[in-house]
Amino acid sequence: MKAFNRRLVIQPGYVATFALVMAATAGTAAPGGALKDAFKEHFPIGTAVNRNMVVGGAGFRRSAEQNEKDIALVKEQFNQITAENDMKWQLIHPREGADGYEFGPADAFVNFGSSNKMTVVGHTLVWHSQTPNWVFAGTNPAPVVTNAAPLAAANTNAPGTNRFGPGRFGGGFGRYNGPRASRDELLQRMRDHIHTVVGRYKGKVKSWDVVNEALADGNGTNVLRSSLWLEIIGPDFIAKAFQYAHEADPKAILRYNDYGLENAAKRKKLITLIKSLQAQTVPVHAIGSQAHLNVSITFETMDQTLAEIATLGLPIHITELDVNTAAGGQRGFGAEITNNTATTQGGLISDADRKLTDAYAGIFRAFLKHRDSVKMVTFWGANDANSWRGQGKPLLFDGNNQPKPAFDGVIAEAKKAAN
Ligand code: XIL
Repeated sequence: MKAFNRRLVIQPGYVATFALVMAATAGTAAPGGALKDAFKEHFPIGTAVNRNMVVGGAGFRRSAEQNEKDIALVKEQFNQITAENDMKWQLIHPREGADGYEFGPADAFVNFGSSNKMTVVGHTLVWHSQTPNWVFAGTNPAPVVTNAAPLAAANTNAPGTNRFGPGRFGGGFGRYNGPRASRDELLQRMRDHIHTVVGRYKGKVKSWDVVNEALADGNGTNVLRSSLWLEIIGPDFIAKAFQYAHEADPKAILRYNDYGLENAAKRKKLITLIKSLQAQTVPVHAIGSQAHLNVSITFETMDQTLAEIATLGLPIHITELDVNTAAGGQRGFGAEITNNTATTQGGLISDADRKLTDAYAGIFRAFLKHRDSVKMVTFWGANDANSWRGQGKPLLFDGNNQPKPAFDGVIAEAKKAAN
């Protein structure tokens, strides 16, 4: 840096070049402008942000300098944010009791959003994954599960649904197998958690993913996946979670959020679940469709998906959009989400950029066609370097924050819709 500075002083011409390069890399200097502006008549454009982006400094994947540029990109392109991890139970409430909360990173996230005038989304209150074991622990013996005698409420094709492999956040906990809390104890913990977390950010977090990924995958007849929530509380754990969240912040938009809704069988389960909640007047206000896709996605599939979900009469939020370009990169239907990261290890398909551009253009064409229903579109990460499926290069900006051809494809769709 020293040598470079000297050169800048001696040859003023470098100063201009340097300034241009900095302008180009600090943001995107994308000729198409910013995503948030291109879609401002239609829906907010959001991104998941990681802890480093809201507290600054060097991080897990990025140097401090790279992180600065990532932050600049987030501010330039997006007007809504979701915390990628820091509001999950494991992170925000790792230990039992009123002093078992860690609010620092979540507070920093909310403050980042408020100080940058971004809509702030809370993710997530009740999920089978990234939830600490103490939540489910108690004195009731765990039932002995045999293949011959499935649990009355068991309803999944995927075994072991509370697993989250050893990682930065989990510390390696599997599905909890020890003695369990009673239904009343677990409901009490759920209520305390939701009231505390939603209450703390009342008026600041605009919408919450109240229940995440409760639906079973595949073509089986079971609507709900097997989880400790379901086994200990029963199917009304979903209604209770929404009820508690509504008590804690009556103005918050409460979402049911899930993945794989582009699959007709899973979508049918979503519709069954939400209709049953609506029949019980449960305060569910929006459908979150994660949309972890791959390049085989088409306009037609997305069009049909949105049309069917829209029949529920609720706003649709696209909550975790990314489009994997890796062969075999479709998010699997298994409950073990770490496996989904692993599926991005395959080689990149040829002409990946063209395929990604076509896929994104088709998806956004469908979002715009259904703009009466689609009320938010959030990418699961700002650039490929920060993506949980980074090897599949699934986002609109590369690891240097440069817009990819898919970015232009998306902006072109916005322009077409404006004409
Ligand atoms: C992912 C994060 O991106 C990773 O950093 C973390 O290790 C695992 O979780 N569905 C969800 C998100 O609802 O919370 C997940 O996020 C991706 C799948």
